[in-house]
Amino acid sequence: MSDAMKVTPQPVDVSQMRGLSGAAYTDADYFAREQEALFARRWICIGIVDDVPNPGDAKPFRHAGRDLLLLRDAHNNIRVHHNFCRHRGHPILLEPAQGLKRLVCPYHAWAYDLDGTVRRAPHFDGAGQHRVDEGAAALPGLKPVATGLWHRLVFVNLAEQPEPFETFIAPLKERWGAYDFSQLRHGEEVVYEVDCNWKLAIENFIDFYHLPAVHKGLNSYSAMHHHEFIRHDGAYFGQGNGSYAPQDAAAGNLPVFPDLPANLTSRTEALCLFPNLLITIFNDNLRIIIIEPLGVGRCRERVHLFFVGDDALSPDLAEIRKTALNRFQDFNDEDIGIIEALQNAFTGTGFDGGCFSPYFDQNIDHFQSLITAGMADPAHERSA
Ligand code: FES
Ligand SMILES: [Fe+2]
Repeated sequence: MSDAMKVTPQPVDVSQMRGLSGAAYTDADYFAREQEALFARRWICIGIVDDVPNPGDAKPFRHAGRDLLLLRDAHNNIRVHHNFCRHRGHPILLEPAQGLKRLVCPYHAWAYDLDGTVRRAPHFDGAGQHRVDEGAAALPGLKPVATGLWHRLVFVNLAEQPEPFETFIAPLKERWGAYDFSQLRHGEEVVYEVDCNWKLAIENFIDFYHLPAVHKGLNSYSAMHHHEFIRHDGAYFGQGNGSYAPQDAAAGNLPVFPDLPANLTSRTEALCLFPNLLITIFNDNLRIIIIEPLGVGRCRERVHLFFVGDDALSPDLAEIRKTALNRFQDFNDEDIGIIEALQNAFTGTGFDGGCFSPYFDQNIDHFQSLITAGMADPAHERSA
C-alpha cells in the first residue's frame, strides 16, 4: 500500500466532531430522501451473476423504490429491466424463474424477448389481429436499467445520465490489481434481516474501535491496533490489516490467489463502496455484504463468499468453507445485538450526534459527510 492511501489523522477540534442525530436513523421522510438522493443516482451493487446462473433465469427485486428485474439473456448477457409491462404496467415477473425463452405479461399476454423487445402483442388491433415480429418490436419495450459488472458483482444506476461504470470502478480495480479475480467462484451465502437503519450496519462495519469490547475472538487474530485507515476519496474507504492471522481449521487450507506478492499474503482489507457495499479481500476469499435498506428501521444483509479457483469448491473442502463463513457469522451475531440496540436508542433518546473520537471515528465521520453531501445536492429529483 502506498503512503498516499493511508489516512493520517489531522489535529481536530473535538467539539466539531459530531455525527448524524438519531432522526437520521428513525425519520421516514429522511429515509425516503436518502433513497432518491443516494440510491437512485449512483452505481449500486444489487446482486451477483450467480443469482441468475443460466440463460433465461430471472429474478425480480426492489431497489430505491422501483421494481426491477435481473436476468441472463439467451446470449449469456446480464441485463436489468424495469419490472413493469409497457402496456398497462403490470409486473412482468412476481417470483424468480428459470429457463425462460420470453417474458410474458400475465395481464394481456404481451410477450417480450429477454432483451426487452416486444415480440407479440395479441389482439392489439382488434380480436384476432395480433402485432407480431416487426410490428410488435415497434411498440415500447421493457425499460432498460444501466448495468455494470465487476467480476461476479452486478451494479445498476438509475440516474438519467449515469457516470461511466468504468470511471466508478477503476480505483478499486487499480488498488486490488494484484488479485486474479477471474478465479472467483461463488461458495457460500447467508442472509440476515436486522432491525436497524441501514447506515448503522455500514457504520459498524467500518468501525474497528469496537473490536476489543465487542469481538474478543476476532480481536485475537485481527487486533484493533493492527488496523489502519484506507481512503480513496470518491471511490472507497475502510480499513486494512497486514497481519491477519485466523487460527481455525480453515486457516491455510483453502486455495489462495495465485502469485500474490508477499505483502498481501497476510493482508486483509475491508472497504465500503458508498453507500452500501461492504467488500473484504483475504488471501483466499472475497467476501461481499450488500446492505439493502428495507425501511427506515430495517435492513437486509446479503453476504456472499467467493473462493479461489475450481478446486476451492471441491466437496472435500465443504467443512472448511463453512468454517470460513462461520468466522463472519460469529462476529456478525455480536454486531447485530449492538446495532439493534443503537436503533432502539435512537428511537427513544433524542440522540444528538454524540462526540466522535478524532482518530477512531474518522471512517464514520467520512461516511456521514458523504451522506450529508449527497442529501444536500439539489439534483436528486426522482430519476428513471
Ligand atoms: S399490462 Fe401487460 S399485457 Fe397488458
Ligand atoms: Fe463488529
